[in-house]
Amino acid sequence: MAKTKKGEDKDMGKVAIYPGSFDPITYGHIDVVERALEIFDKVIVAIAVNEEKRPLFSVEERLHMVKAFFKDTPKVIVDSFKGLLVDYVAKTNAIVILRGLRATSDFEYEFHMASMNRSLDTHLDTLFMMTSKDYFFVSSRTIKEVARLGGGVEGLVPDLVVRRLKEKFKLPVTKKKHIRWDD
Ligand code: PNS
Repeated sequence: MAKTKKGEDKDMGKVAIYPGSFDPITYGHIDVVERALEIFDKVIVAIAVNEEKRPLFSVEERLHMVKAFFKDTPKVIVDSFKGLLVDYVAKTNAIVILRGLRATSDFEYEFHMASMNRSLDTHLDTLFMMTSKDYFFVSSRTIKEVARLGGGVEGLVPDLVVRRLKEKFKLPVTKKKHIRWDD
């Protein structure tokens, strides 16, 4: 591959890496990727393999759901990685780590992570993108909790994810459940 400077090469152009657990992917994540594609030529969605976090979905299941969503978007590459993110980034042509910020409460965690990554690789920057207002309240954690308790998550995650959540929690695949006070 003909390289110019890090993050740019004739084949790939400017590349950003978007790491995360994606357990599961939400429209909040997708919104960040889609807006990043207006700045970068390629975005690598990098799914972290971290068994300590006891994910709901295996890495294969997560890869499948993310790949299925972006199957018609060649500018998105979906991959998984084990170990340190900086080591994985070094094997790619990414110039930055991309992370979404929903609220100020995300900032402290993100600040620590970005600072640690910067200390491990002094050339590596983290770029934060504000999640759009429609998805401010969406996180993989709350999606799993709502789905487990039988609430509707349609419109917050792709349809395939809705189906996979229902399978995991052994819920019938039905229409959105509207929660009423007298239910
Ligand atoms: O979606 P998440 O769980 O907030 O993503 C966190 C993730 C996967 C980006 C972070 O835990 C990570 O980079 N893990 C890889 C291990 C690593 O490099 N740790 C040091 C960074 S502080």
